[in-house]
Amino acid sequence: MSTSFAKDIAPLFTDRDVHCMGGAGVHLREYDYMANPEGDAVFPDYANAHHVLARLKGTETPRMPPSGAPWNGDQIALFESWMSAWLP
Ligand code: HEM
Repeated sequence: MSTSFAKDIAPLFTDRDVHCMGGAGVHLREYDYMANPEGDAVFPDYANAHHVLARLKGTETPRMPPSGAPWNGDQIALFESWMSAWLP
């Protein structure tokens, strides 16, 4: 079964996550933002999703969310499986 952004991924983000990051232009529950194919200086494509994943895993710091529990392995694996479904 494929992973749905609206059903499986968007609800992983709390209202606080969405509020904090929306102010910084990171729209965690918006498909068009998260699946944007544009790259940047760090990732050649799909930079928005790659940066979100890197912050969730702590490979880019500070790890997100900055307070409270980090995502568990199952949540991160679900996010990665959603990404791998459409990543080139
Ligand atoms: C799962 C939840 C979250 C994710 C995936 C996330 C994702 C990100 C990403 C991708 C960036 C880098 C933005 C950029 O470089 O332009 C970032 C930075 C930041 N986020 Fe979050 N965020 C989350 C939750 C939060 C919350 C709840 C807060 C507020 C309490 C917050 C505050 C910040 C701040 C202050 C920065 C700038 C930190 C820095 O790089 O110096 N984030 N976040």
